[in-house]
Amino acid sequence: MKKRVFVTRTIPAAGLDLLTSRADLDVVVHPGEDAISRDALLAGVKGADAVLSILTEKIDAEVLDTAGPQLKIVSNYAVGFDNVDLAACAARGITVTNTPGVLTDAVAEHTIALMMAIVRRIPEAERFARAGKYKAFGPLLLLGAQLKGKTLGVVGLGRIGEGVAERAAKGLGMKVLYNDIRRDERFEASVGAEFRATADDVLREADVVSIHVPLLPSTRHLINAERLAMMKKTAYLVNTSRGPVVDEAALAAALRNGVIAGAAIDVFENEPTIHADLLGLENAVLTPHVASATIEARAAMATLAAQAILDALDGKTPQHVVQPK
Ligand code: DGY
Repeated sequence: MKKRVFVTRTIPAAGLDLLTSRADLDVVVHPGEDAISRDALLAGVKGADAVLSILTEKIDAEVLDTAGPQLKIVSNYAVGFDNVDLAACAARGITVTNTPGVLTDAVAEHTIALMMAIVRRIPEAERFARAGKYKAFGPLLLLGAQLKGKTLGVVGLGRIGEGVAERAAKGLGMKVLYNDIRRDERFEASVGAEFRATADDVLREADVVSIHVPLLPSTRHLINAERLAMMKKTAYLVNTSRGPVVDEAALAAALRNGVIAGAAIDVFENEPTIHADLLGLENAVLTPHVASATIEARAAMATLAAQAILDALDGKTPQHVVQPK
């Protein structure tokens, strides 16, 4: 009998072709571009041996039990895996995998793009030009800050934090400070970065703070009103990690009240909803969770996610297994 693979959203062909080229698999792809509804997810996973999930789906005990005891693997199409209940998977002997590494460059590049966009007010300037407000070159028109010589503070030094720091230091001439649970002297030497013992130290000193921590109980609302108040009034916040790491209401208030100069964020607390206050602020740059959205990264993520399923169903250990803490 064919094994059933349920894919919760259309992914790039590189991954789908890997799966559908196997005659021993019955591959069912939930159609369309929208996030799958909970009911459709529960119906789709029934009888599945493998589920390829997107970060918008909560993969919890109910989903696993609805799938049935034959379910071997949940392959999450993302580096983040906060949408998957790892303990529930472990309790049922289900392997969980993610797609690290292949999206590092894409996310690091988008983070730098966001940083430049907010600091040089590019979306605001673009709105200004399109609205027909550009009447003459102005010595004081839409002034922004220079990045060269400024300090980037990286909170969370995984692959992506490191990629951002390297680009900022080597490409833009920024000084880099970082905080992580581990000090990394090799990284410090390669980028000329300095370690700070706490995230608070980074927040106090940096001109631009970029967040790269995973979403965990300990990082939920890591950036709250109190920590925003520690930042310089002239500083900017960039978040391409997970939305709930930042208290969005507190951020909107800080931007409105001049507690910090601006923020550029790709991820939101209650995606796809964006806090209404942020939508009206000129000193916020908002992108819809697209930091990894390059053709290259998304194809590589699809390949990794599909290969993990083939490996698990063939009795091999997939490359990137996520272990519960
Ligand atoms: C991830 O992979 O976790 C990103 O947020 C989406 O690619």
